Amino acid sequence: MLETVWLDDRLVRLVDQTLLPHEVRVVSCATPDEVAGAIRGLRVRGAPAIGVAAAYGIALAAACASALPGAERAHTVEAAGAVLTAARPTAVNLRWAVERMLTKAREARQEEDAAFAALLRREADAIAEEDRAANRLIGRWGEALIRPGERILTYCHTGGLATAGYGTAFGILRAAHEANKGIHVLACETRPVLQGARLTAWELLQHGIPATLITDNAAGALMARGAVDRVIVGADRIAANGDVANKIGTYTLAVLARAHALPFIVAAPISTVDLACPDGAAIPIEERAASEVTHVGGCRIAPEGITVHNPAFDVTPHDLVTAIVTEGGVAAPPFDRSLAALAGAAAGSG
Ligand code: MRU
Repeated sequence: MLETVWLDDRLVRLVDQTLLPHEVRVVSCATPDEVAGAIRGLRVRGAPAIGVAAAYGIALAAACASALPGAERAHTVEAAGAVLTAARPTAVNLRWAVERMLTKAREARQEEDAAFAALLRREADAIAEEDRAANRLIGRWGEALIRPGERILTYCHTGGLATAGYGTAFGILRAAHEANKGIHVLACETRPVLQGARLTAWELLQHGIPATLITDNAAGALMARGAVDRVIVGADRIAANGDVANKIGTYTLAVLARAHALPFIVAAPISTVDLACPDGAAIPIEERAASEVTHVGGCRIAPEGITVHNPAFDVTPHDLVTAIVTEGGVAAPPFDRSLAALAGAAAGSG
């Protein structure tokens, strides 16, 4: 199985997702700044995966700073946390993983050099391992919702490489396929940077899941023709009231799903739920480079000089969401209550 990101002594290694599906190349980051650069440049992407990458970035900072005097060591690790948190604003998993690592670093501040670095490495490994386990559970809960033979539309890329392994929304597709439900996946290309066409299509083929790649614009026509039974997507941040930030275009699909009376399912680990964020209006939305819109695969398609607006995410209001599948179970409306209960149960068992 292809690992998404890991720490090799004093190098964070990750599969460069910008090169897929043409090339599987592992790149190395020697500093937390380089890890932050890989996150900003989408070499590693997907909310849980960037959380895990940031955790390894801090473990790397701890390894490199382990010989420094106590105060300097602490400062280096805190500074790495600040750089990594600032890399991308929307996916809360990034901030969540950094805060968890910094809490561990503060608790371990009296430890000797090697023990300090080892403790932080173990914490990053635990974050990755817990994410893999959460994805398996999301798959199991979500699979139970699916009837045999369903045609399921998905968006962006939520597979193994968007997480520490297995996938969230993709994990449900995988679990349904493994349970011989006879599903057929409709994967949207996902403009502007085509995570669906490049990454979801690639992982669907890897796992032998029957699938068809469609343009984003084809989704409504297929729903109107009765060719879609359900929509399942991932999330970058879920507010306390159940509003969902996810890849730009998700909201459009949710409106279409409602217009065609289709279930609209969101799948995400509890680390994606931000109870401190009351609703979607409080979620920061990342604006990305104009070149993502004016170019496709490095080739310019729009004229020089055109003004571009490129928000990377949108917010789907909670009343368009049928259910939110987490590792702790399936949250149903009203989400303010069901999400608080799931997050509370997770905190109690953690
Ligand atoms: O900009 P990206 O590619 O990081 O956006 C990713 C998404 O929107 C995913 O749907 C989300 O992070 C969930 S990944 C399990």
